[in-house]
Amino acid sequence: MDTYLTTVVSNEKIADKIFRIELHGDIVCEMNTPGQFVNIKVNNGYEFLLRRPISICEINKDKNTFVMIYRADGAGTIKISELEPGDLVDVLGPLGKGYDISSLEKGQTALLVGGGIGVPPLYELAKQFRNVGINTIHILGFNNKKDVFYEERFAELGTTYVATADGSYGESGFVTNVIEDKKIKYDKYYSCGPLAMLKALTDMDKEKIGYISLEERMACGVGACYACVCEKQDGSISRVCYDGPVYDSKEIAL
Ligand SMILES: Cc1cc2nc3c(=O)[nH]c(=O)nc-3n(C[C@H](O)[C@H](O)[C@H](O)COP(=O)(O)OP(=O)(O)OC[C@H]3O[C@@H](n4cnc5c(N)ncnc54)[C@H](O)[C@@H]3O)c2cc1C
Ligand code: FES
Repeated sequence: MDTYLTTVVSNEKIADKIFRIELHGDIVCEMNTPGQFVNIKVNNGYEFLLRRPISICEINKDKNTFVMIYRADGAGTIKISELEPGDLVDVLGPLGKGYDISSLEKGQTALLVGGGIGVPPLYELAKQFRNVGINTIHILGFNNKKDVFYEERFAELGTTYVATADGSYGESGFVTNVIEDKKIKYDKYYSCGPLAMLKALTDMDKEKIGYISLEERMACGVGACYACVCEKQDGSISRVCYDGPVYDSKEIAL
């Protein structure tokens, strides 16, 4: 893990307040594991002292680029949404422990469940599973039709359901409703999204093996400040930025 100067290739709006940014740079050589994230320096001024953690959505080794999808809804992410092709961005990473694709064998089926801005890291995971012959089923949960992104891209990799909480697009309700209604069969699940969604998912079948990615508020992003701790089932604490963000679902007290 190090800091790298990267160059903006593109930075486009793809849904309501949702942007897709592609960055070029040597940091891509260090990126292998889906579910890891980077810490972005918003700009060089003193206005944004803390970097912003954003998940890696796609790793393109052939082009030496990586993609992130982010919601521009606070001062820092709105500033990032103003970046233009050719601009330089200081990025720290790759950070954290991601998903382990060797947790399944060829021919098995992974259920990938994402909610809102928890959807992006699952795309690289789906790509890597597919590359080693593991089937993937995707359930993407959003609040509303205007929030939906990457449905077609996931659909290229496997069966994909979109659920909206207000029923304005796809299946009506929550991701857990889709699992029940469609009677989806899978070997293990892999998830990222709001805590309420992660809890509902893990509560559905306590015997099932699953992996969840947490998005705690962070400061340093490298395990030094303890701003991001979560509680484990055994009562100990864990630094989400360093020990996570991906955990075995049975490890964490949700
Ligand atoms: C491991 C990880 C991966 C993430 N991946 C994505 C992603 O792929 N796409 C995406 O849109 N968002 C992602 N987030 C959330 C993203 O970091 C916040 O939305 C972003 O930092 C908000 O910054 P802001 O300047 O817009 O908001 P502000 O409210 O101005 O931020 C103030 C401070 O709080 C921190 N903060 C605010 N909200 C969050 C949050 N939800 N999580 C962590 N820190 C927060 C900021 O980093 C900043 O230091 C991720 C968070 C974590 C921890
Ligand atoms: S953000 Fe500092 S320890 Fe995790």
